[in-house]
Formats: sequence, structure tokens, C-alpha cells
Amino acid sequence: MSGNERLRPPTAALTFETSIDALKALGEPTRLRLVRLLSRNDLTVTDMTTILGQSQPRISRHLKLLVESQILTRYQEGAWAYFRLTENATIARFVRSVLATIDGGEPALSRDDERLEAVRVARAERAAGYFAENAGRWDRIRSLHVPDADVERALLSAVGTAPLGSFLDIGTGTGRMIELFARQADRAVGVDASREMLQVARAKLDAAGLSNAQVRHGDCYHLPVPRDSFDLVMLHQVLHFLDDPAAAIREAAATLQPGGRLVVVDFAPHRLEFLRQEQAHLRLGFARETVAGYLADSGLEVTGIDILDPDGSRADQLTVSIWLARDRRGARAGLAPAAVPAMTAL
Ligand SMILES: C[S@@+](CC[C@H](N)C(=O)[O-])C[C@H]1O[C@@H](n2cnc3c(N)ncnc32)[C@H](O)[C@@H]1O
Repeated sequence: MSGNERLRPPTAALTFETSIDALKALGEPTRLRLVRLLSRNDLTVTDMTTILGQSQPRISRHLKLLVESQILTRYQEGAWAYFRLTENATIARFVRSVLATIDGGEPALSRDDERLEAVRVARAERAAGYFAENAGRWDRIRSLHVPDADVERALLSAVGTAPLGSFLDIGTGTGRMIELFARQADRAVGVDASREMLQVARAKLDAAGLSNAQVRHGDCYHLPVPRDSFDLVMLHQVLHFLDDPAAAIREAAATLQPGGRLVVVDFAPHRLEFLRQEQAHLRLGFARETVAGYLADSGLEVTGIDILDPDGSRADQLTVSIWLARDRRGARAGLAPAAVPAMTAL
């Protein structure tokens, strides 16, 4: 081993040169503000020009430099390009530690925070407006682009037929997942941000005589349920409406009992841009590694991924993916591992 190698810092530390590069990239007011915003939310260039009140070419020039210095990652979703803090954990930790020491009370920064909140609220209102308008027709709309019968068969097979204990369905909509699983559960709780959706769900669950099921109004980022309390938690076709899917998965994971299971169902990456305009989708699907990464970052063990390809009979049918993950504390507590039938083992 050469002297230089012996002096090399552990892999979790940045090299001297990289840290100088990162500090140089951050050492400009607009860039620091951009990085601070992007450490909280994935944003488009339009979002950032709205928040900072600066021209698009100027913002784009700064973003380019930040991407080149590996502080930001750019990703394309259909016609929209999003930016976020780098996925390199060491650089991200370095940047966050710099941001954490900045006084957020500085007027320019608190104005940024207010405008970021306005962008988030506008996104949420757009989605909520869509759901309010479509609550009554939702079941018909979803069947237009989801092969429901296939997905439900795969889900039933993934979850298994054993008693489920307590079941939480996040973004329950009209309560279809509750209808599907409540009979296997001691109790089932559905949470949704749309009161109109919940009205339809209540009527449906009443008609089905599911007295162990209830739905309540709430936000998936701040679930109105206790921590560590559910055996099975589901996010079925919800993530693509959210501007922070990783945070929603973290919040969902926090509601799991030791050994509990989290199931996520969503579209695979696709190019149906009209779903953004017409159906308020924020994400055009998710790669298997993306959601698996969110689950692992939430401390869960990913136990299976199932990819359900359309049969090709219609051009607008989308591939649906199912991710199954488990809270690791069950293994430590000596609980029997949850069954993972009919899924691709990882
Ligand atoms: C496509 S629907 C899916 C409904 C249901 N899971 C299903 O598959 O039938 C998405 C649901 O997520 C809900 N939703 C969107 N954003 C939410 C949020 N921030 N918190 C809770 N629910 C949300 C919507 O109101 C809507 O009912």
C-alpha cells in the first residue's frame, strides 16, 4: 500500500478536491438558494423560476453547474425535467450539513420557503380538484388504464390468504383495496385526502356490510393513525400523484408493526403525457429500483417485485408493478417471516 493510499479518507468521506468543488458550487447566492429548495422538494425549472423570480436562462445556467458538480441530479419525466439533491449519499450529507447551519430567517430564504409552500399547495389543489371532480366516476376511470382483475389477482397472491391482522390503506380513494382485503383483516382503515372520494368509499363499504372497516380524512404525509400499529399497509396507485413519494413511503413505513408488510402498487415508467394534464399525474410511473430504493431508505427489506405487463390489446394500457417489503424488526423479534408467494425474489 502506498503512503497516499494509507492517507486516503474512508469512502464515506469526500476527498479534499471534491469538497472544495462542492463549496465553490454552493458559494453563490442563487445556487445556494436553489440547492436549499431542492433539498426539500423535487422541482422543475418553472417551479424554480416562480419561486426565485429569476429568468429561466439564469436558473438553467446555475442548475447546469450544480449538476456538473454532482450536487444535483436531473431526471426527465416525459416533457418535464425535474431536479433533486444528488443521490450520492456522501455529497448529499455534506451539502445538508452546510444547509443545516444556515439561518433560515434571512428574508430572501423565508420568501423562498413561502413560495415553495405555494407551489406545493398549488400542486396539491390541482390533484384534489381532479379527485373531487372524478370521485363518482373513479372506478370507471381506473379500469380504463389498469388491468384491474390481473392486478388484484397478483395482489391477493402476494398478500396471501392468511389472516392479515390490522390493515391500513393509504390513499384509499373509493375503498376498493379495503373491499378486497377487509374480510381477511381484524380491522381495516382507509385514509384519503379527498372527502368526496371518502363519501363514495363509505357508501360502498356500508353496502358491502364491512363493519370492521372505516375510512378517515387525512394526508399521507401526516397519517392520522398511531405509529407501529399495522400489520399490512398499502399504497395502491397513489405515489404517482405525490410530489414527495419517498416521504410518503417513510410515513407509511412508520405505521408498521414489527414484522409488518408494506405493499406499493404503481405504474412502471411510461410516456402517456396526457395523464399529467387530464388526470393530474405528477409522475409518469416508477422504475423498480426507484421504489425499492425508497423502501430500503425507510428501513424496510424489499422481499419481492412483480411486474404485470399489459396484454397488448390496447395501446393505452400501462404496466403495473407491485413492490412488497417487510419491517425488519420482525426478524429481530423472532417473528415468522411474512409469506412472499408468487413474487420475484430479490
Ligand atoms: C388513483 S386514486 C387510488 C385510489 C385507491 N387506492 C385505488 O386504487 O382505488 C389516488 C388516491 O390518492 C388520494 N391522494 C392523493 N394525494 C393524497 C395525499 N396527499 N394524502 C392522502 N391521499 C391522497 C386521492 O384523493 C385518491 O383518492
